[in-house]
Amino acid sequence: MSSEHSVVLVTGGSRGIGRGIALHLAREGWNVALNFSQNIEKAEEVKKKVIEAGRQCLTLQGDVGSSQARRSILEGIHRGFGRLDLFISNAGIAPRVRNDLLETTEESFDEVLSTNLRGPFFLAQSAARWMLKQKQDQPELIPRMIFITSISSYVASVNRGEYCISKAGLSMTAQLFAARLAADGIPVFEVRPGIIQTDMTAKVASRYDSLIAGGLVPQRRWGTPEDVAHAVAAIARGDLDYSTGQVIEVGGGFGLRSL
Ligand SMILES: NC(=O)c1ccc[n+]([C@@H]2O[C@H](COP(=O)([O-])OP(=O)(O)OC[C@H]3O[C@@H](n4cnc5c(N)ncnc54)[C@H](OP(=O)(O)O)[C@@H]3O)[C@@H](O)[C@H]2O)c1
Repeated sequence: MSSEHSVVLVTGGSRGIGRGIALHLAREGWNVALNFSQNIEKAEEVKKKVIEAGRQCLTLQGDVGSSQARRSILEGIHRGFGRLDLFISNAGIAPRVRNDLLETTEESFDEVLSTNLRGPFFLAQSAARWMLKQKQDQPELIPRMIFITSISSYVASVNRGEYCISKAGLSMTAQLFAARLAADGIPVFEVRPGIIQTDMTAKVASRYDSLIAGGLVPQRRWGTPEDVAHAVAAIARGDLDYSTGQVIEVGGGFGLRSL
């Protein structure tokens, strides 16, 4: 089976930023392969909305940290849609416990690195191989890849070092795939969210409320999944195709230095 519409894989698409991206792209005409980890109910809700937008949706449960799950995610897309036009590595976790750097455990380090870096790297590798094969058969196709990283790729938070390390590594992963695939006509981007209102930040919301009000974010507001989805959609449409390896920060000016 081959989809007549372009197909996007969004990892971690059941909630938060991934959900926002999946719904926005569905409204722009994309068929969606929606990966998630546990939350079948939330994934089904997103699927329903994608279908309401007039597009098709495949829900693909699987831990991106598991090689078997990664294989079955891509096989599922192969069987269901027969093509992959846009790969979005979004799934990610925060450490279960925010521990001081001197107390970081090997278990937490391994869990966060496996989900946020090792899994995304090897999933991207398999997706890139498939995209190259597609281009051999149909050279006019322009597949694209996007890695959702974080401002934590360059901001040191000593109470979640393993998260920062994972995002710094994912940032380099985007650079590496961009360099490797540029000559093959596959643009690769890093989209770097700032402080975004999702389940991930819900536990620390009141702390962030006051930091944002105090000027930590120059635009003085939380980001939303839609803010990130807008940046992703510009890449997805091909508006930035004579660029690759670029970082688009969606953080309300967080990275801006001023005096
Ligand atoms: N929120 C922020 O402020 C912020 C800022 C910068 C970067 N980010 C990054 O943006 C991405 C999305 O964050 P979010 O805030 O939207 O998080 P979220 O609300 O916690 O949602 C996480 C999503 O990832 C999925 N997921 C978790 N572990 C997975 C695994 N092992 N395999 C497959 N899917 C998995 C979850 O699936 P289930 O529903 O099944 O659990 C869910 O769909 C993450 O990479 C995060 O690091 C977030």
